[in-house]
Amino acid sequence: VAPKIQAPRGTFDVLPEEARGRAALEHLAREILEPAGYGRIETPAFEVTELFARGVGESTDIVQKEMYTFEDGGGRSLTLRPEGTAPICRAYVEHGMHKQPQPVKLWYLSSFFRYERAQAGRYRQFWQIGAEAIGSDDPAVDAELITLLASLLDAVGVEGVRLRLSSLGSPAGRAAYREQLQSYLRANEDQLSDEVRNRIDLNPLRAFDADHPGTRAVMERAPRLLDSLAPDDAEHFAEVRAMLDEAQVDYEIDHSLVRGLDYYTRTVFEFTSDALGAQSGVGGGGRYDGLVEQLGGPPTPGCGWATGVERIRLAAAAQPTAPTPVDLYVALAEPAARATAFGVATEARRARLATHQELAGRSVKGQLRQADRLRARYVAIVAADGTTTLRDLAQGTEEELAAGEVVVRILRERGMG
Ligand code: HAM
Repeated sequence: VAPKIQAPRGTFDVLPEEARGRAALEHLAREILEPAGYGRIETPAFEVTELFARGVGESTDIVQKEMYTFEDGGGRSLTLRPEGTAPICRAYVEHGMHKQPQPVKLWYLSSFFRYERAQAGRYRQFWQIGAEAIGSDDPAVDAELITLLASLLDAVGVEGVRLRLSSLGSPAGRAAYREQLQSYLRANEDQLSDEVRNRIDLNPLRAFDADHPGTRAVMERAPRLLDSLAPDDAEHFAEVRAMLDEAQVDYEIDHSLVRGLDYYTRTVFEFTSDALGAQSGVGGGGRYDGLVEQLGGPPTPGCGWATGVERIRLAAAAQPTAPTPVDLYVALAEPAARATAFGVATEARRARLATHQELAGRSVKGQLRQADRLRARYVAIVAADGTTTLRDLAQGTEEELAAGEVVVRILRERGMG
């Protein structure tokens, strides 16, 4: 026998039952986002590699080691999209969306690709629902987006949700703060853990996450980015918070919140769920006021988020989703009735009846059992001469008619019921 082939590591098949749960999630997202003015967008599954190198940032883990990059037949370097914000900003510029009323509000449900270590809740192909509002720096945009994501997570029943919030200010302010923090850490080097000391140059912010008692004591007195925001950034953040308070969206200020993408400015946030293990991030995002310009467009502010479909499915209490109900099962009284029965099934489907037909060569008894299993409302048992027995499985009644009358009869009964 030929060896079996399995789905690649970090990927999964979405089987029909799970697909129904995901369709219900998509439906909820649409119901929440479209009325708030967000229109659906789809961008290609792959883009020129430079988009992510420039957009997401050369120094990020994503660009350094997680991208699926390949050369196509024409020798171009292409990359399977690892995230959606840079592609949408590219589309905003490419289609001249700055000429539309601002902000342009878009949402998406798409698959993304990252070469990460696969584990529960972390995959190499995963799906995100995302929303982006491009073209306004009004703090109400940030608050609106955060509130919409909170509503979505609530509507789908994600358990133990927490929202962490911070502001990164401007890139220049952030660079200055980083230096300030580095010199503070160096001045207190002797009290830090080896790990933190070794990472002062690379990632000084990580020191805020440390468990080491000496490091924690040092960090309690450390300068904080939020305290060193420029006045207009601090004002922007205060307004975002005031609106979240007004909307009664709970959040915690997290001084050490860092996101894995370089494009963020000002507001950043992350939703976690206690129902998830190590990969507790259920959604996150923030403002990216420099990204559109970095991609060759006019200076344009933007803000958005993305939430992981698989993480939502893991963190939400299982909600049973029923399969589509079956109106009619078309059975064969004898094999020679195949063509006549096929005609009945086709006519029924054209009339929008949910119709299954016998396709497995079952005995009549086997066919009736199958109709039962599907919980079909009607079974039509068709003979070669067209004589048909129509059973109403709900009422327990039965009648004889011609094959051509079956659909009309069901529609008429339905109209009366
Ligand atoms: P992100 O934090 O990299 O942000 O991803 C957002 C969400 O996608 C995560 O919170 C998580 O739920 C899910 N996710 C990420 N990686 C994986 C994975 N390997 N397997 C399963 N789920 C995953 C972004 O992607 C930004 N584009 C969000 C954004 C939009 N910022 C502004 N606008």
